[in-house]
Amino acid sequence: MSNTATTDRPAILGGRPAVTMDPARIADANRWPIITDEEVDVVTEILRSGELSIHPVAQALESDYREFLGVKHALACCNGTSGIFAALHAFNLQPGDEVIVPSATYWASVMPVLWCGAVPVFCETESEQLGLDPDDVEKKITPKTKAIVIVHLWGMPSKMDRLLDIAKRHNLKVFEDASHAHGAKWRGRHCGTLGDAAVFSLQTNKLAPAGEGGILVTNDDAIFEHAQCLGHFERILPMKTPARRFAGTGFGLKHRISPMSAAIARVQLKHFPQRNARRNENLNYLSRRLEPLGLNTFLAPDGIDRVYFLYLVQNIESRTGLTTDQLVNALQAEGCEVVGPRYPLLHQQPVFTEDKFIEIARLGHLPRASLPTYRPDTLPKTVRANNAVLQLPSFPSADRELLDQYASAFRKVIGAAGEIAAMGSPSS
Ligand SMILES: Cc1ncc(COP(=O)(O)O)c(C=O)c1O
Repeated sequence: MSNTATTDRPAILGGRPAVTMDPARIADANRWPIITDEEVDVVTEILRSGELSIHPVAQALESDYREFLGVKHALACCNGTSGIFAALHAFNLQPGDEVIVPSATYWASVMPVLWCGAVPVFCETESEQLGLDPDDVEKKITPKTKAIVIVHLWGMPSKMDRLLDIAKRHNLKVFEDASHAHGAKWRGRHCGTLGDAAVFSLQTNKLAPAGEGGILVTNDDAIFEHAQCLGHFERILPMKTPARRFAGTGFGLKHRISPMSAAIARVQLKHFPQRNARRNENLNYLSRRLEPLGLNTFLAPDGIDRVYFLYLVQNIESRTGLTTDQLVNALQAEGCEVVGPRYPLLHQQPVFTEDKFIEIARLGHLPRASLPTYRPDTLPKTVRANNAVLQLPSFPSADRELLDQYASAFRKVIGAAGEIAAMGSPSS
């Protein structure tokens, strides 16, 4: 066989792998987070100060976020999950209140609802922007619905025109889980500033990481005050409002960020615009090469600026001619780092589907008939879409050479779809 024939032939059929770059260069291209001496220096400074619990760096980080987003209040928390709980608690959810949530997300978007005594009502995800499907949201609203959790999944803003309109008509509080969406914009406005409150996770993989941390943001004074009372008792005494009377106890939790994490987060946020621009440019470049091959790469519609916490693409089987398993398998043979669906769907998880749910959720005091029955065979659109996504690296520092090698892997594999499909599925 000629040289060209073996390079053009998919590796799974005996050709040469498309990704030939030296593994050390690939590791550099995909390394995240990017940590330099700057982080080492700011952390060392805090260690030397001895102020390892309460340190002004937390307030400095909050100020950075207020400026970045143009929002009235920011509260640094020990992680995104605690910030989400604080925001939902500040919505004053009561036992039995219903909260509309997506199933296709990380558990922390949903589980804090239970800790508020409220009931998550799962809703379909639409397949264009991967957010809550507004048509299904309308169907799931009942007189008990009090709030809606919108997740800008993977950094793609949800369909906010319709979702905000629905929330307004039904008088629902809107929480935005913006954990994946630092810098994403909807009609020029930052995601995270569109509803009543939002949280940005600062966990290690995120776009502006701290290791552990979360930023709750809101324009609402009452929500901000409540969230501080819940998890930041040391901030209550200086308050000039009647909430000051809670200074002795707070509302019972402790959500303070570690000063070391806050210091790292400040450095990361400073570099975010330039690092994110590079990641966006790389993924836009690759997306434009993959779209014509039969992949949906979730390019942003007009008026929307998306970011990429992770890079997920959807296999359109009728166009690629391959099942997602076959595609993943053949791409791995090309040397691509690619894996199947990332998050397990939440409505299928035992914490909801088993009888133990009532105990875990502490909802036993509510009439059983008033609670939803969580069944894994519901939300068919979400299940279908979730099974068709594959995750590639986010290529934060890659150059065109690596991106071209990935594009060429897809081209080769999809070009030989008939032959690869005839081999059967990897597990069959
Ligand atoms: C969508 C989403 N929401 C919330 C969180 C929770 O954030 P944290 O890990 O900072 O608690 C994450 C984190 O991975 C997430 O991906």
